Amino acid sequence: MHDAARPVPHEPHRDPVAILMDCDTGIDDALALLYLCSQPHVELVAVTSTPGNVDADHVAANNLALLQLCGRGDVPVAIGARSPLEIPLVTTPETHGPQGIGYAELPLARRAPEPCDAVEIWIEAARARPGELTALVTAPLTNFALALRAEPRLPELLGGVVIMGGAYFYQGNTTPTAEWNTHVDPHAAAEVFAAFAGQPEERLPTVCALETTERIEMHPEHLAALAEVAGCSEPELVLPEQPEGLRSRASNRLVRQVSDMLRFYFEFHRHYDQGYVAHVHDYFAASVAAGTARYAARTATVHVETHAPRLMGTTVADYRGLWDEPANARIVSENHPDEAFAELVSSLGSLAHRVD
Ligand code: BDR
Ligand code: CA
Repeated sequence: MHDAARPVPHEPHRDPVAILMDCDTGIDDALALLYLCSQPHVELVAVTSTPGNVDADHVAANNLALLQLCGRGDVPVAIGARSPLEIPLVTTPETHGPQGIGYAELPLARRAPEPCDAVEIWIEAARARPGELTALVTAPLTNFALALRAEPRLPELLGGVVIMGGAYFYQGNTTPTAEWNTHVDPHAAAEVFAAFAGQPEERLPTVCALETTERIEMHPEHLAALAEVAGCSEPELVLPEQPEGLRSRASNRLVRQVSDMLRFYFEFHRHYDQGYVAHVHDYFAASVAAGTARYAARTATVHVETHAPRLMGTTVADYRGLWDEPANARIVSENHPDEAFAELVSSLGSLAHRVD
């Protein structure tokens, strides 16, 4: 039996951390990446691109452009898989826009992705710095599963793993029971959790799933506050009564881009009757990886459904050891949205001010 899956609290800190990020950028992935760039204690080792919200080329182009905006042209960007392990890729232009970044039009990056494969970058980095790197995946787990196939010692080589994905005893956002990242590549997700089965608790992936990431609900007021911290000359007003697709005229470059992304995401959530808000799942996962979030997590044995047609990508957590199988995850059970947004507004606002 698991230790009654007691929630283990984690207090925020800013100890130095080196992060390997894999994402499918994606509006909330973009916010996650910008946030990491805003944190001086975070070393971004590489940003790799998995197909999901958009195809891998668009993901990489977005990552390169966002890093350039932040003056981080030094961070390697690479592409890995071009499709999920066993099923065709389904992208989501209705959620994130045709380019993955809502209404934003990012300047073309002055460089191309690295010539090598994302999986090689991950493995080389993990082998070169055993126990030092934290892997953050805010995308389908395709690249991570391929990396684990190529280097089965990754669970021991990585210092930590944070994953955005799944929905536990909570309704899905893609099918009634499945979350997007897990639904896009359920076979990869199943392989990743299998690879961590039986690892000591501190090595188990920390999983940020819908029941906690949907609480990280961004409102237009947060955007206005961010613009203020960035020193914008006028209030940044993104309002539900404004025409859809209006573009930001903020005096700050980064605020304009973030605002144009978020407006699209607010409109998307409204189309699905969730209000003029945006669930910024991946930002929360990034703050967990960076150590800056206060949260609690419970160990569990996770199962990912890959057979039953109506349940593809559904995730189930056994918190009580009823399957009598070793734990393979720590699932976030508590988080603190007000603190998360105070952190995002001040940190990203200051970055926007600095790089303008
Ligand atoms: C996840 O799906 C994607 O659309 C988001 O970027 C996030 O990673 C939420 O289900
Ligand atoms: Ca994502």
